[in-house]
Amino acid sequence: MRPVATLVCVLTLGLCSWLCVSAYGTHLSTGPQEWPVPYRRVDERPDVDSYCQARYPFCSTGERDGRIPYMRDTDSISVYRLQAPVWEFKYGDALSKLHIMHDAIGFSSGETQRNYTMEWYELFQLGNCTFPHLRAEVSAPFWCNQGAACFFQGIDDEHWSQNGTLEKVGVITGDMFNDMARWVQQDNQTGVYYETWTVRSDPGPNATVWFESFDCSQFTHRTYGKLAELGAKLSSRSQTNYTKVYLYSGEPTYLGNDSTIFGRPDMKNLAADIREFYYTFRPHQSYVELAISLVEVFEKVVLHKNFYLYYNSEYWHLPMKSPYMQIKYEEVPFPIGVY
Ligand SMILES: *[C@@H]1O[C@H](CO)[C@@H](O)[C@H](O)[C@H]1NC(C)=O
Ligand SMILES: *[C@@H]1O[C@H](CO)[C@@H](O)[C@H](O)[C@H]1NC(C)=O
Ligand SMILES: *[C@@H]1O[C@H](CO)[C@@H](O)[C@H](O)[C@H]1NC(C)=O
Ligand SMILES: *[C@@H]1O[C@H](CO)[C@@H](O)[C@H](O)[C@H]1NC(C)=O
Ligand SMILES: *[C@@H]1O[C@H](CO)[C@@H](O)[C@H](O)[C@H]1NC(C)=O
Ligand SMILES: *[C@@H]1O[C@H](CO)[C@@H](O)[C@H](O)[C@H]1NC(C)=O
Ligand SMILES: *[C@@H]1O[C@H](CO)[C@@H](O)[C@H](O)[C@H]1NC(C)=O
Repeated sequence: MRPVATLVCVLTLGLCSWLCVSAYGTHLSTGPQEWPVPYRRVDERPDVDSYCQARYPFCSTGERDGRIPYMRDTDSISVYRLQAPVWEFKYGDALSKLHIMHDAIGFSSGETQRNYTMEWYELFQLGNCTFPHLRAEVSAPFWCNQGAACFFQGIDDEHWSQNGTLEKVGVITGDMFNDMARWVQQDNQTGVYYETWTVRSDPGPNATVWFESFDCSQFTHRTYGKLAELGAKLSSRSQTNYTKVYLYSGEPTYLGNDSTIFGRPDMKNLAADIREFYYTFRPHQSYVELAISLVEVFEKVVLHKNFYLYYNSEYWHLPMKSPYMQIKYEEVPFPIGVY
């Protein structure tokens, strides 16, 4: 693919279109493209632009500065797998049949009897992580797509057990807990952008994964993996299924980032295509509106077979193919391997 793109660039010289970007972008120097594209971590969580305003404040009951209490090593801390449909807050369970689940981990200290919940979610709600804002004064689509970990006291037993899962999956020592806490804070500083979509070549078992999501369930998987690495024995008696939002496409093409695509005369058409693509999918206020928007995405994608994915703060073109998009509730065996 890449030699062909280079050839086209050489032949058309000044008329280079976006194909050149894929040939001359950062990816050329690093040899063949690695799939899935590694999720890029940052050195430190950047400040959020004041344009992004949360509808509901992030982690309002959390400890200050993400502090996680220190546990004595003599303590035995029970670990709970928590899962509940996200839809229930406002709209009852009408949409829970889609199995759009939120995942979290609970802890209960044997010595202090205190309970804690730890979860990872969007700072500005899911719609803002999935679709950007098109602002008149800014040429590039504007994303409010940070996610973060929240640690707070208490486990809302009723919330998790009534319509979801509250299952004890193991017991850890205070030392393991404290090691995990340090790791969570590090993870929270470096893995800061929410990624909604998992992109694969097809739904079959041998599909190539082009992009992995980075969301609440991935955070719980990473944490279980870390606990296993620290020597924890975790297991579940029930089937452990998680929500995944899939896109299906042929091999993606790298397009560029904000500065290489937007505000450049030679990239005018691509820039306009990306803005036009996201125009109908602006962030919405509620999950129901988001669900409707996902249906619109589906129609648009089926019709035009194009998707402009934003991943690692860069744009990729996805040549979409059937079945285009699926929301699946699939098993991920427990405990999850080390990440
Ligand atoms: C998404 O971000 C916009 C801009 O900051 C904000 O007005 C809106 O409330 C956010 N959406 C939700 C659902 O919070
Ligand atoms: C993670 O980062 C967010 C955003 O800076 C912060 O609000 C939260 O307290 C942090 N959580 C933990 C567990 O460090
Ligand atoms: C802590 O959580 C466990 C498990 O959900 C529950 O059985 C217990 O009642 C809770 N304790 C407190 C003090 O909330
Ligand atoms: C569980 O679902 C039922 C039916 O949708 C709802 O009425 C109830 O409030 C939910 N329970 C909790 C704790 O969210
Ligand atoms: C997947 O790959 C394995 C090993 O190469 C092969 O045995 C199997 O038939 C393949 N399955 C499908 C559905 O292609
Ligand atoms: C965008 O990509 C160019 C070329 O790869 C790179 O030099 C630049 O640092 C990138 N900009 C940002 C904001 O990452
Ligand atoms: C859980 O996942 C398994 C395998 O991925 C699937 O067969 C099963 O139907 C799923 N369960 C539910 C309730 O969707």
